[in-house]
Amino acid sequence: MGNSVVSCDSFQTSQLKACLTAEQINNVQSSWNLIKHDLPNLGLIVFIRFFETEPSMKSVFPKIVQMNQDNKLESNIDRDMLQKHAVTVLEGLGAAVECLDDSHFLNGVLISLGQTHVQRQVKPHMLKKLWPSLHYGLQQVLQDAYTKQVSDAWKRVFDYICVYMKLGMENPDMDADAHSEVAKYS
Ligand code: HEM
Repeated sequence: MGNSVVSCDSFQTSQLKACLTAEQINNVQSSWNLIKHDLPNLGLIVFIRFFETEPSMKSVFPKIVQMNQDNKLESNIDRDMLQKHAVTVLEGLGAAVECLDDSHFLNGVLISLGQTHVQRQVKPHMLKKLWPSLHYGLQQVLQDAYTKQVSDAWKRVFDYICVYMKLGMENPDMDADAHSEVAKYS
């Protein structure tokens, strides 16, 4: 698979690695190494921001979130559960970073993940709404290390994740493993 930016922009590749330059791979992996030991902290920042900036998403997480009328998290929120979920989501992201050499496996995981999200009433258009909060969280924890280049590289990884999760969402009965190499959607 070539390293063509054009084919990657429409995601006509089934290789995450082909979407990133060598420098972007390095940026994503080295920043992941800085944050992976404190995912609970980053996770909380990301999801608190998400629920505060995208209040309509609260209803998707009834088990976890109860907001007051000012749109702030209630003090009696199930923080343990929020943290647990936030870490799980970030681990999903980390799996992408750590699977750069095995996109066949990764794509299958992402398609399945999309399928499980449909069962939870998550709609395809909701996925991208998470990016601004993730971007904010990465900025908070990485600080000066979160350069424009690092941010652009993470955005690429995130967009790739969304494409495959969306594929799973739109095809709830698809055999994720068998279709993890398809490359014809944009
Ligand atoms: C785009 C990046 C995302 C990733 C990598 C991701 C990943 C995950 C993972 C790994 C889980 C746990 C495994 C599972 O239950 O299948 C999960 C659960 C869940 N996700 Fe996502 N997710 C993403 C985006 C979203 C968005 C945007 C929403 C809602 C708007 C959402 C809603 C949920 C819900 C409701 C659960 C179940 C929580 C529970 O019942 O504990 N996810 N997600």
